[in-house]
Amino acid sequence: CGIVGYIGPRPAAEVLLEGLRKLEYRGYDSAGIAAVWEGELHCIRAKGKLHNLQEKLDKLHLPARIGIGHTRWATHGKPEEYNAHPHRDASGRLAVVQNGIIENYRELRENLKAKGYLFTSDTDTEVIPHLIADFLKISAPNTNSHHHGLLDAVRQAVQHLQGAFAIAVVSADFPDELIVARQQAPLVLGFGEGEFFCASDTPALVPYTRAVLPLENGEIACLSPTGAEIYDFSGQRLRKTPRTLNWNPVLVEKQGFKHYMLKEIYEQPGVVRTCLEYYLRDDWRPDADFSPIKLNLSPALLADLEQVQILACGTSWHAGLVGKYLLEDLAQIPTSVQYASEFRYAPPPVTRQTLTIGVTQSGETADTLAALELELHRRANLRSELQPRLLGITNRPESSLGHLVSEIIDTHAGIEIGVAATKTFVAQLLAFYLLALDLAWQRQTLDHSRLGAIIDQLRQLPAQVEQILESQERYIETLSHDFADTQDFIFLGRGINFPIALEGALKLKEISYIHAEGYPAGEMKHGPIALLDAKVPVVTIAMPGIVFEKVLSNAQEARARDARLIGVTPMEEQEARDTFDALLPVPEVDELLSPILTVIPLQLLAYHIAARRGLDVDQPRNLAKSVTVE
Ligand code: G6P
Repeated sequence: CGIVGYIGPRPAAEVLLEGLRKLEYRGYDSAGIAAVWEGELHCIRAKGKLHNLQEKLDKLHLPARIGIGHTRWATHGKPEEYNAHPHRDASGRLAVVQNGIIENYRELRENLKAKGYLFTSDTDTEVIPHLIADFLKISAPNTNSHHHGLLDAVRQAVQHLQGAFAIAVVSADFPDELIVARQQAPLVLGFGEGEFFCASDTPALVPYTRAVLPLENGEIACLSPTGAEIYDFSGQRLRKTPRTLNWNPVLVEKQGFKHYMLKEIYEQPGVVRTCLEYYLRDDWRPDADFSPIKLNLSPALLADLEQVQILACGTSWHAGLVGKYLLEDLAQIPTSVQYASEFRYAPPPVTRQTLTIGVTQSGETADTLAALELELHRRANLRSELQPRLLGITNRPESSLGHLVSEIIDTHAGIEIGVAATKTFVAQLLAFYLLALDLAWQRQTLDHSRLGAIIDQLRQLPAQVEQILESQERYIETLSHDFADTQDFIFLGRGINFPIALEGALKLKEISYIHAEGYPAGEMKHGPIALLDAKVPVVTIAMPGIVFEKVLSNAQEARARDARLIGVTPMEEQEARDTFDALLPVPEVDELLSPILTVIPLQLLAYHIAARRGLDVDQPRNLAKSVTVE
């Protein structure tokens, strides 16, 4: 979900709507705003995408100067208007938007119901306005309690909430105060001239200001026309200074592309180039006595490692699988890759000298953050060789991940708006190449001339990605017409390209809603082969290297079951050309580097199939870019 808030001289509804537009990638099941004007609270909500809310707002004249807004990704309760945020108290004069999950909402709800509060939604959020109203009532001025208005009531209410939340609150009785609080869900304040903003993420703020301050867990703020005051939940005033984002708002525009996803696919050559420029040392030669990679990590983080464990979700988990292959092959370090959500409740035994890597493009995925926190806490008081060593890989170093771990590899890919990850994935892969090569150099596990050769080839990648985009896009667009009625796809790969088969299948599922499975090519005969017939296309990644011949044989097994074969393979390979019905050619490179190239045609294939079907590529149903709930 995404939340925004505004107080200042501008028409709040416009600012909120614009902010929600920038946050829509976080959820788009319903949206709403609440604003205070002439002593009344106005709450407008609509099911579905933001334009439904916009239509309602267009019919109103609402010149309010203070308000809050929300775009929802349904957790508790169906995506209906009565479940849409903001939620109000019984008087209808106080409204709350929330991102996160209140875990003890049932208990709170029962208590509030017993006191006579009526509930009108299925959400966990609705307990919050009632709870705040309750505190406002019991500490009203004619009682003897120390009451300082809305801020205090919200502060007391949040102390009763368990779980993860970021909230924003407005009330018609306090028309000059916007209260926000954060506990385990992101919230950033924005500072303008005589105006203040809050939002779940910075893209909603950059059109107005670059002076931002991310709230930390357990902090609450009161934004008023005269200033922003920040406190901890116990009421202690905190002194904080905003920092300046070096962001260009143009980065979050579509720049002529039909979808953000396509724009981001096309940004990939630049992303690879930038990342390499940051981290490769130009002055390195195979006889040098320093590493070719400058990751700026503290030496203690990587010294004498015995194991690596990678924690991630979704596409980032696929990047982790490639990472495992690289760390084991190049640096000879045993590596495990776990879904963060699984790790949390079944962590493996604590092992010595272990580096834990969290990979996340949003830097906000609740499961990944919680898994890293678990690792931090369970190791903190143990012997020195068991102490936590945490590393984050992300394109959002300013995110919650950045606050949680002290060491980051910033992939410099910038923010990604399309819900299906593309450029951030490629950038994460690159981070793993760089890390594995740096470790290989430190541990002396790789011959220096081989190291030099790999680095030379890394430098070729931007031009090679460009070449695929230039030569393939039109063909893939045409090819996508063939799959108008296709219901199942199989993606096969082996070795370092097995995770790319998984990623190709995930991309297709996410945006085209076609069932797709990624499989290690050699495993197909043990089950999925039963699915094959002439209606099921099989996309096979076949790159020259140790598994090339094997993969081609696996593809032949599919052909024998009448499947249509599509090959991601170099044009020069006659044998591959003879095997496949359709080719998605990629330049011939060392197998080790091939995932950065083989994923590109698969992204384009998924994109064009979805676009051809007229689907909402950037905001596929039921998904969100940043999943800040467990
Ligand atoms: C969501 C997105 C996926 C993403 C996953 C992990 O489900 O829809 O595209 O791969 O979260 O996100 P992260 O930000 O942790 O990489």
